[in-house]
Amino acid sequence: MCVVGSGGREHALAHVLARTAQVVVTPGNPGIPNSVDTDPEQIEADLFVIGPEVPLVDGLADRLRAAGNLVFGPGADGARLEGSKAWMKELLVAAGVPTAQHESFTEIDAALAFLDRMTPPFVIKTDGLAAGKGVVVTESLAEARNAVEEYLSGQAFGDAGRRLVIEEGLTGPELSVLAICDGTRAVLLAPAQDFKRIHDGDVGPNTGGMGAYSPVPLVTDELLKQVMVEFIEPTLAELTARGIDYRGVLYAGLMLTPQGLKMIEYNVRFGDPECQVVVPRLSSDLAELLAQAAAGNLQTEPEFIEDAVVTVVCAAEGYPSAPRTGDVIHGLSLAESVPGVTVFCAGVSQNSQGEFVTAGGRVLDVTAVGSTLEQARERAYEAVAKISWPGMQYRSDIASDL
Ligand code: AMP
Ligand code: GLY
Repeated sequence: MCVVGSGGREHALAHVLARTAQVVVTPGNPGIPNSVDTDPEQIEADLFVIGPEVPLVDGLADRLRAAGNLVFGPGADGARLEGSKAWMKELLVAAGVPTAQHESFTEIDAALAFLDRMTPPFVIKTDGLAAGKGVVVTESLAEARNAVEEYLSGQAFGDAGRRLVIEEGLTGPELSVLAICDGTRAVLLAPAQDFKRIHDGDVGPNTGGMGAYSPVPLVTDELLKQVMVEFIEPTLAELTARGIDYRGVLYAGLMLTPQGLKMIEYNVRFGDPECQVVVPRLSSDLAELLAQAAAGNLQTEPEFIEDAVVTVVCAAEGYPSAPRTGDVIHGLSLAESVPGVTVFCAGVSQNSQGEFVTAGGRVLDVTAVGSTLEQARERAYEAVAKISWPGMQYRSDIASDL
């Protein structure tokens, strides 16, 4: 079995898949066992699991399938849900899925005129992929106008911003629900909550995610049923009506607004770091589940342990704008000696002395299982306290005050 990607999400997937399968990860990183830096199209495997959105949008799943492989991950047609926000919004409207009012634009004058008629908060998004940084949510009309000009001119995000979406601002708690799809059917995974801002108390710039926990006390079975019936099923039906055979993760980013549950956006992959807290809680076989979905033949519902999992992301100095790399990471094995703790390696490489060094913004995901969220959180932070490098940043409020 081959996992494609190199981050904490792929480490977690490989770790859990390895309970029942032989796994290689490409390109992986020196902190992920069985990493091989080989073009996935040159690897032989009984199943490919593609982690990140960029290769999915680029059609890696299509190329691997065309060569006769079993692949978990949508083709380029389905991956457009994440690759083009304007297309995703059009599909949601066609499917009757509740979402924020929106318009998409390629011309500055039309976009600014529309913005002037909106009320705050203003929400501006690049149409294309921008590594999680293409969304501005602001109360300031001046800032919103500025974003429109920088996006559409190509200054801010190149071609990804030359089309943009302006949306009605929604309010309320957010939740991530991940569905495993086989083209026609879907099953839901246990919900997770992530923490997007860099600093404690949800302040500072948006990041890829600074920590996560599962289960989420806020999410009831009834709410999950609603997500399935009102969001996932109509989306899959609309994809099918358009001739798209979607085999992979549909990751629903939802907001519980005063007007009810609304879709913020779909991603076409496991969330990072949500994956790190969801898949370790599986008591059923992940390899079997993903193989069934990839074969268009989902038969089993995933099952989860009652125990809770918390992950705390340790990030490099300067993250998210300009992370510093090359710092030697201390205390990794000490951290893993804390009961229930596994450290997933994200931005990690090795120096010439063979020491692990920082090699990206998010470096480590310190992940702990416990019988309660509180115990999992305490264990994760006990382990984080054993890890250090110059400028290491982490949030100290992951899964607290629940
Ligand atoms: P994304 O990076 O696309 O997940 O978006 C980043 C964040 O922007 C989301 O997690 C929300 O907190 C926020 N956001 C996106 N769309 C809206 C909206 N229509 N109203 C309010 N906040 C939003
Ligand atoms: N943690 C958010 C994401 O994976 O997009």
